[in-house]
Amino acid sequence: MEEEPSLAKAFAQSFRVGAAVNGETVVTHETLLVRHFNSITAENAMKFASLQPLPDHYRFEEADALVDVAEEHGMAVRGHTLIWHNQTPEWVFRDQSGRLKSRREVLTTLKDHINRVVSRYRGRVYCWDVVNEAVSDGGDDLLRKSLWLETIGEDYLIEAFLAAHDADPQAQLFYNDYNECDPQKRAKICRLIRRLKSEGVPIHGMGLQAHWHLNSPGIDDIERSLNDYAELGVRLQITELDISVYNHREDPPYRQMTPSLLLQQAERYRAAFRLFKRYAEVIDSVTFWGIADDRTWLDNFPVRGRKDWPLLFDTDHRPKPAFYAIMEQA
Ligand code: GLA
Repeated sequence: MEEEPSLAKAFAQSFRVGAAVNGETVVTHETLLVRHFNSITAENAMKFASLQPLPDHYRFEEADALVDVAEEHGMAVRGHTLIWHNQTPEWVFRDQSGRLKSRREVLTTLKDHINRVVSRYRGRVYCWDVVNEAVSDGGDDLLRKSLWLETIGEDYLIEAFLAAHDADPQAQLFYNDYNECDPQKRAKICRLIRRLKSEGVPIHGMGLQAHWHLNSPGIDDIERSLNDYAELGVRLQITELDISVYNHREDPPYRQMTPSLLLQQAERYRAAFRLFKRYAEVIDSVTFWGIADDRTWLDNFPVRGRKDWPLLFDTDHRPKPAFYAIMEQA
């Protein structure tokens, strides 16, 4: 059987093409990974709870192994993610009796963690999602209510970026978020980044997660977002791209992927990549949140057990119409 051309090679002049991986998928999906991608993100292995489950106990095995795999195949590594309200252990914020720790204690933990992790991968992980999802979705608040905010205060973001920059001055430092194309949230994210930049914080990029759906966000909103974020004077990366075949939590499950869905999804991917190409001057990397449809977090989100098919390769690892639609944009 003739093999399809390589995605990463096709886009080499424009941006890197990445995939989120874990210790299992680098083995089970190795053929696709090595052929089509030149960048990886650890799906979970570099999150706080994975790396430092206990105050005095770091676990680097899985993350180290992923970085080794990347280097073996000449792939870049995005670091994901240093500070997030999820997948962060309780001990970070609470003492043994369950009381919230002081600002000083939590700030020390934040700095130690970032310093230890970023130093370990200095020169091997070229960029970090320093803070993930800090902006609130609805309402007037700029920042999401989180234990980082509650214990340290608003400057936890500043402290995180400064600590990461200290530990690796060469690393590109990103703010990363979802619903990034929603007009209201986009305005808030822009406000946050502008504020950080005006205070001299070393922030170099905006990561658009891009967990998108068949019909939303609208292509106009995506374009406005690329435009508005680029105008902040930061680099852009698409960090967690997938296009669900569902639009709403309430949509009933499909038993299988249908020809019509395959085509609609291909058109969505085509439109997205047409834009990415137009913005290639500011976009350095486009990462998919997975490799093939047999392994996707969307099978259990937002509805547990509802099969989804959001990626470019099908459950048998064959390229889908979306793959060829994207290739035509290269
Ligand atoms: C967010 C995080 C990712 C991942 C996805 C769901 O987008 O940034 O690390 O956890 O949720 O898998």
